[in-house]
Amino acid sequence: MIYLDNGATSLQKPEAVKRAVLRAMLRCGNPGRSGHRAAMEAAETVYHTREAAGKLFSCRPEQVVFTTNCTHGLNMAMGTLVRPGMRVVISGFEHNAVTRTLHAMGARITVCGRKLFDWEDTLAAFRKGLDAGAEVAVFTHASNVFGYVLPVEDLAAMCRRYGVPFVIDAAQSAGSQKVDFTALGADFIAMPGHKGLLGPQGTGIVLCKDTVKPLLYGGTGSQSRLQEMPAELPDRAEAGTLNVPGIAGLGAGLDYLLREGVEKVGAREHRQAARCASYLEKRGFRVFRGTHQCGTVSFVPPGDCEEFAARLGEKGIAVRAGLHCAPLAHESAGTLETGTVRISFGYGANNRETEGFLRAIASVH
Ligand code: ALA
Repeated sequence: MIYLDNGATSLQKPEAVKRAVLRAMLRCGNPGRSGHRAAMEAAETVYHTREAAGKLFSCRPEQVVFTTNCTHGLNMAMGTLVRPGMRVVISGFEHNAVTRTLHAMGARITVCGRKLFDWEDTLAAFRKGLDAGAEVAVFTHASNVFGYVLPVEDLAAMCRRYGVPFVIDAAQSAGSQKVDFTALGADFIAMPGHKGLLGPQGTGIVLCKDTVKPLLYGGTGSQSRLQEMPAELPDRAEAGTLNVPGIAGLGAGLDYLLREGVEKVGAREHRQAARCASYLEKRGFRVFRGTHQCGTVSFVPPGDCEEFAARLGEKGIAVRAGLHCAPLAHESAGTLETGTVRISFGYGANNRETEGFLRAIASVH
């Protein structure tokens, strides 16, 4: 199989990730709960991952909070900053993880910037939204559907100037684009552990600037007499037993990225995605591509996109079709009725994958 669905999850992980999961299953007790060797090894394993994340995202290890996925982190972040009736600006490319959560919270949402790959439009629209009195901003780093990389540094600087707290959804960028938590000055950055960070499913991270409203309450192995959650991070946000095997695997994924370099991985993915996009254009598909794009490309095939993806599947090519849990992004791009077929490259992106995809396209179309 040629796996081009890394936007959903990175199926092919480095061997070290699998070894780390198994090692943790064989050796790790419950971290921070006891003083015996197995518990200590678990605590060291978890701390190693926290430290590796701190290095990759330029923050302190205690600012790294483990979650079960990116949605979990986004819920925690928005749950801390957003109250019913608050005015929240979001980009036109947000996932349901952001929009459904804000709807559920009763936020007054303003969508800012709906033109794909157009930084000027995105920035001008956010400026207008902030001028109109937005109280919180939430924006994705890269669209999960179209691979549009938003001008996060400029958006972050703008929010800081306006004194508006903000959350970045790094679901599609962590592991392939530079994310510097301290320089961005975000209140929160949420990300999955199982996509670009190469960890197992069931892992995620939310980087927290200072405090956070817990989503779960319970034991932390610290300050047990206290009936409130501890004030300190990460304990405040990590009630209950952690997913130690998952976190161990995530640590190995982060180690891989620290050695390899995120920019190098991102460039590899982008190169192959651009080759596919050019070919698809030549064959007459409607392809969404632009200057600020990562290793993800969407296109509209003739007929039903789910059927087209199934035909590719029969040829051994794994892609995702439909609305990708991001109807707002499709509405912005004008593809809400048709959906798109999405290809998304991963850390091992190579010519063999691209050539296999091009052959499959030639045979189904
Ligand atoms: N949000 C993930 C995707 O884009 C699952 O496929």
